[in-house]
Amino acid sequence: MPGLIPESLQKKLSERLSYYQDLGINHFYRDRTSAIPSSAELLTEFSAGPTGSIAISNEELTLPKPSRAPQLLKSIPISSEISKTVPLPVLAGPSLFESLDRIVDDTLLKVRSDLGDCTRCKLHSMRHTIVFGDGNPKAELVFVGEGPGADEDAQGLPFVGRAGKLLTQMIEAMGLQRKDVYICNVVKCRPPENRLPEEDEVKTCSPFLFRQIDVIAPKVIVCLGAVAAKTLLQTNRGISQFRGQWLEYRGRKLMATYHPAYLLRNPNAKGEVWKDLQKVMAVLGLQPKKGKPA
Ligand code: URA
Repeated sequence: MPGLIPESLQKKLSERLSYYQDLGINHFYRDRTSAIPSSAELLTEFSAGPTGSIAISNEELTLPKPSRAPQLLKSIPISSEISKTVPLPVLAGPSLFESLDRIVDDTLLKVRSDLGDCTRCKLHSMRHTIVFGDGNPKAELVFVGEGPGADEDAQGLPFVGRAGKLLTQMIEAMGLQRKDVYICNVVKCRPPENRLPEEDEVKTCSPFLFRQIDVIAPKVIVCLGAVAAKTLLQTNRGISQFRGQWLEYRGRKLMATYHPAYLLRNPNAKGEVWKDLQKVMAVLGLQPKKGKPA
């Protein structure tokens, strides 16, 4: 029959629709470019409207809350009615299916590909290379820094300069290697003159960090310095007020400690950082390789 889609695709569609029905999602839009949230919106907030349709709350765009997506999926009321006229996707842009897949089935590759050759903020015009992140995509431990410096910008890898060498020593002192952990930053492009990333830059770039963390699903996140801690904890408190304490980010254990660059300027603070890392090691069941880092 003309216009009929192949049987294998029909089967897939019908399976997918029952899956969405189980989630309580029963509204499907004809014009997906206007009704379906953009990928940027989907990064951080996703909620069900009263009738089980899909809606985005803008006010929450930068405020991640513990384990939002899984909770959301459980909390959507199950409806017995599903629209009988589900249009086939015809327009460009993310479809409902693609959008939901991003929440349910995100990967580092997808996050990287959505980031693309980013020009979303002013940092792009001065960077040489986007520094996405590096390490084990299934790491139990994720280190989050601030933003790439000159060496990182040149090599496209996080923490490869002087501060990075110190971080590597710290990781090895914990009985790990860099390839065992995942290392990334709040902003993926180098702020000029190594200045702090500005609020709009953090706001624009951090959703990619949130997705990276969600995908990796580490047991522990270590924030290196105030920018990372403030971004993940959504606080303006100074890092010294909560450094070394167990905190939570979306249901994961978070430890904020001083940035290795700070330690290069203040070597006396190394002892405090080592104490913080020992707490992390206890949670991860790690034995120190040899004493504390130099
Ligand atoms: N400092 C950071 O915060 N990140 C890096 O990648 C390098 C230095």
